[in-house]
Amino acid sequence: MSQDDWQGDWQGDVLRSLRGLTDGLDGLDRLGTPGEPADRRPAPEPPVPPAPAPAPVAEPVPRPLPTPVTMELPLPDELVKGKPLSGDSAARRTSRSLRRLVGSSATREVEEATRVAQALQQPLTTGRQIVVTSIRGGAGKTTVTALLGRTYAHYRQDPVLMLEADPALGTLPARLGVTKVRWTTSDLARILNPSMQLTDVVGYLVQLPDRGWLLPCGQGRVGNRLELEDYRAAMVALRRYFGITVVDCETLPAEVSRTALVAAQARVLVTPATAEGVTSTRAVLDWMASLGRPGMLAGTVVLVTASSPHMTTTLDVTAASEHLRLDGVRVMTLPYDRHLAAGGPIRTGLLGQDTHEAVTGLAAEVLTRAMGRRGPS
Ligand SMILES: Nc1ncnc2c1ncn2[C@@H]1O[C@H](COP(=O)(O)OP(=O)(O)OP(=O)(O)O)[C@@H](O)[C@H]1O
Ligand SMILES: [Mg+2]
Repeated sequence: MSQDDWQGDWQGDVLRSLRGLTDGLDGLDRLGTPGEPADRRPAPEPPVPPAPAPAPVAEPVPRPLPTPVTMELPLPDELVKGKPLSGDSAARRTSRSLRRLVGSSATREVEEATRVAQALQQPLTTGRQIVVTSIRGGAGKTTVTALLGRTYAHYRQDPVLMLEADPALGTLPARLGVTKVRWTTSDLARILNPSMQLTDVVGYLVQLPDRGWLLPCGQGRVGNRLELEDYRAAMVALRRYFGITVVDCETLPAEVSRTALVAAQARVLVTPATAEGVTSTRAVLDWMASLGRPGMLAGTVVLVTASSPHMTTTLDVTAASEHLRLDGVRVMTLPYDRHLAAGGPIRTGLLGQDTHEAVTGLAAEVLTRAMGRRGPS
């Protein structure tokens, strides 16, 4: 696909999807009353009498272009003792290979892998933006963003961006094995302009060793901020250059996160595999339903994630899926994986087989939904 194919009416598209995003976004502050219909919201304040004519306002002063600062980030791998763990134990790897030798599961696995690869390689007409967020901190957002981004980068020819929208000492660079960051999402909001080519833009990004690009949010310092306007500006501008952008968003109900959730073409709500995790994600889905935006729930995948080995044994996953499957929402699971649990840079070759299948299946499903289609449920 040529660079020009990305130009299209991208700005119009993005601006349309961002227009009026603040309408109804406050509802998530009242998660105790999910699903409250719009006509039962508190009545608006009575009109205030007109104020005297305001004094003339000075033209806004353009913000200066940012100055780059290169920051070295400590690599968590250096803090970990011993070799990085494989996702599956040796016994599990052996039993899986034996089952493959004797059963018909091998044929089924090949068919499923082919279906997933086709979905991952489907052609795109304009850039798709996929937001990963959660209502609980530590649910697995950053891990899932890194896994999705690397999967798309592996399967696709068009450029793939992993963008961090979490100013609170986000860990996306660390999960991607990046030790030096320079420009941030806020910087790019001020730097990008429509005359820039992809080759100019990538000069401000971190190139990942096995394909794909990273735009970090902070520089490993406490006190960074990401303004909503900067997030919007960066996303509008970047959609033109990247086939897929996966966004690691801060935890809901932060403003950037709510806006990102609404503006994206598809969204992943990462949910810890606990009763509280499921209940709070259901509240987010009810809030989304109350916004009355057609297609928003159908473009949503809830990912129930086990970040400890016992989580899926204590949660009734079938009942949880029923509780979360609202108006076209797809519920999927990510198993506990020893390699992911150990932290540090993710090495896809060390993921357990079940994790690998869950991640590629998730990436295919989310992309299909970002295209406005539904995958098999
Ligand atoms: N499938 C998994 N198996 C095992 N551990 C996991 C899995 N997914 C995530 N984890 C672990 O859970 C912890 C939290 O993950 P992560 O940092 O991705 O969450 P987060 O939602 O981005 O957190 P924060 O809200 O702090 O940004 C990490 O230690 C990670 O290694
Ligand atoms: Mg995170």
